Amino acid sequence: MCRDSSEPTYQVNLVEDLLNIGIALSAEKDHNRLLEMILAGARKITNADGGTLYLYEKDKLVFKIMHNKTQNTFRGGKGEPINIPPVKLVKENVSAYVALTGKTVNIPDVYNTDGFDFSGPRNYDKTTGYRTKSMLVVPMENHESQIIGVLQLINAMDRDGNTVVSFIPEHQKVIESLASQAAIALTNAKLISDIEQLFHSFVHTITTAIDARTPYNANHSRRVALLSGRLAEAINQSGDDLWQDKKFSPDRHEQLIMAGWLHDIGKVATPLEVMNKATRLDNRVELVLQRLDYLYQSKTADYYRERSCLQEKGRVDNLGELDERYGRELEELKRARALVEKANSPATFIDDNMALELAGVAALTYRDIQGREWPCLTPEELQCLTIRKGTLTDDERRVMEDHVSITARMLEKINFIKKYSNVPLYSAMHHEHMDGKGYPNGLAGDQIPLEARILALADVYDALTADDRPYKRAMPVENALNILGAMVEEGKLDGNIFNLFKNCKVWEKVTD
Ligand SMILES: [Fe+2]
Ligand SMILES: [Fe+2]
Repeated sequence: MCRDSSEPTYQVNLVEDLLNIGIALSAEKDHNRLLEMILAGARKITNADGGTLYLYEKDKLVFKIMHNKTQNTFRGGKGEPINIPPVKLVKENVSAYVALTGKTVNIPDVYNTDGFDFSGPRNYDKTTGYRTKSMLVVPMENHESQIIGVLQLINAMDRDGNTVVSFIPEHQKVIESLASQAAIALTNAKLISDIEQLFHSFVHTITTAIDARTPYNANHSRRVALLSGRLAEAINQSGDDLWQDKKFSPDRHEQLIMAGWLHDIGKVATPLEVMNKATRLDNRVELVLQRLDYLYQSKTADYYRERSCLQEKGRVDNLGELDERYGRELEELKRARALVEKANSPATFIDDNMALELAGVAALTYRDIQGREWPCLTPEELQCLTIRKGTLTDDERRVMEDHVSITARMLEKINFIKKYSNVPLYSAMHHEHMDGKGYPNGLAGDQIPLEARILALADVYDALTADDRPYKRAMPVENALNILGAMVEEGKLDGNIFNLFKNCKVWEKVTD
């Protein structure tokens, strides 16, 4: 028996259905769920046995969702492609006609209708034993009067679901309204997704450009993002009680990856001579060595001059003392040269003795062509060579560490959408240590959120294992894990994250 569309409760239910679907459509941003919701909602309102939702793609109508309750077939709902050739835009095809004209077609029985080619439904019926009868095909037209797809419903059923009936005019109106709302919802969802993709590609471009400023770690931001994302996935997959209340939702996971991409954006303002300083003296080492070589050659020339002078004067008894003195001085200069080269390397730890010896080198002087006296090492050069560990002086280290504060200042200016609202916070904490001895704010323990702890570990691991540093080979994973383990022992990195990283071999899940 048909529903009596004049009943007041029926009308109220219809409006209620439409409103509910409208609200759900405007809330849903996932493209596939939206498509599924549109077809399911249209079928519910019209009590249709089946239907197809097509979207307009490259001058064709592509099958996106197909339902047939009697045949128990539901396809496309998870975004999987439907293996049916797209519909060409020819007016003989009813869906194409609706897409081309923007007019609804409502047919009581497709087997008794002229004007359209229904060989498709007929073939379907032949192979399945189904009988396609009534059909309602409506355009999906958005707010810019663009037809983005077509909604086709088949076989409206009576209230008992036993008899196929025609699609009534009231339903047609409601489905036209629903199709229009659906088109607007789909257009909006696409706009949001396009904006997000634009933002992502902008972030990837800008961070890749910043990484490219230095030849030492050209993929650092990308790898920190990927490693962090994989660590969050390892947390989600872990059955350990430790992680049960710390699982990452899809939005939180995306936020962490975004923070990984952006964590070093402040390096855009770090001077290259600091960022790329590979040795203690860096490119000044050649100048220092040339001075020492010049001094060596001058001294050698002095030696031969003095020697021939003594010989000319017949003072051969003094030659022994001269040879011995110059031999000692020249040997000292050779040692000074070797010492500068050794101290210049970041692999050398400068102890007190070495610092004293370097001060001795700094006390050596040479004369320029005008006879002016100069030290072999300037105070700045001596300061660089006596850096105990690493290659940066205290001032240079402060400039380098400033990149985190600059990251924070830059990211705070970006009007992030809600799901990325904590990106500035997490990015700016990637050098904080659990023991409170990190920077810039010396946060400790619980003051550092899980996301920032993950970034910190991914950052150190990538810095250690990067294979694109010209002055150092990639460190084997085992050595890097030993260093991370030592940093956990020292209280710098989170031990639970490290254990998960190690046990799940998270690094293997990130490929270049
Ligand atoms: Fe950093
Ligand atoms: Fe970094």
